[in-house]
Amino acid sequence: MSERIAICPGSFDPVTLGHLDIIQRASALFDKVIVLVSVNVKKTPSFTPDERVEMIKKVTPHLKNVEVETSDGLLANFVKEKGATAIVKGLRAVTDFEYEFQMALANKKLCPEAETVFLITKSENMYLSSSVVKQIASFGGDIDGFVPPEIKDIIADRLVNNKT
Ligand code: PNS
Repeated sequence: MSERIAICPGSFDPVTLGHLDIIQRASALFDKVIVLVSVNVKKTPSFTPDERVEMIKKVTPHLKNVEVETSDGLLANFVKEKGATAIVKGLRAVTDFEYEFQMALANKKLCPEAETVFLITKSENMYLSSSVVKQIASFGGDIDGFVPPEIKDIIADRLVNNKT
């Protein structure tokens, strides 16, 4: 049987422990997982795509079937280009659902050969998001327990006193 490839797309601005949990669980389910740092037109990022890729690479060296890439194009095109059969996303509260549902339907239309697979977040990550992390860091708060320890200082140093 051919290799089963999944794409795990997101803004990852920055990657959180919630994202890392989803990436780890996806890596156990698929032969290969490509974490894709992508563009969300509704968000203004604090980190460049390359910085976000580097942070994800720093926290995933133990996951041998995980690769990290960036793209500024359509997710559906990237999925086709890689021959992936799944798009993996984490689902937190019900508030995520409508938005994720809309994206999953659009992606299914654009790329019928791939399924969107939702992994339910761990309960402790239910209210964790990159924007919460950025807000805490910008006020000089402790982001321990929100982001992987390897990238904590990079995030804190960049965001402290930066409340934009
Ligand atoms: O972490 P996010 O911000 O919820 O991720 C959203 C993201 C980046 C995966 C989404 O905006 C996306 O797929 N962007 C790439 C462009 C695209 O394909 N847009 C149409 C989605 S239906």
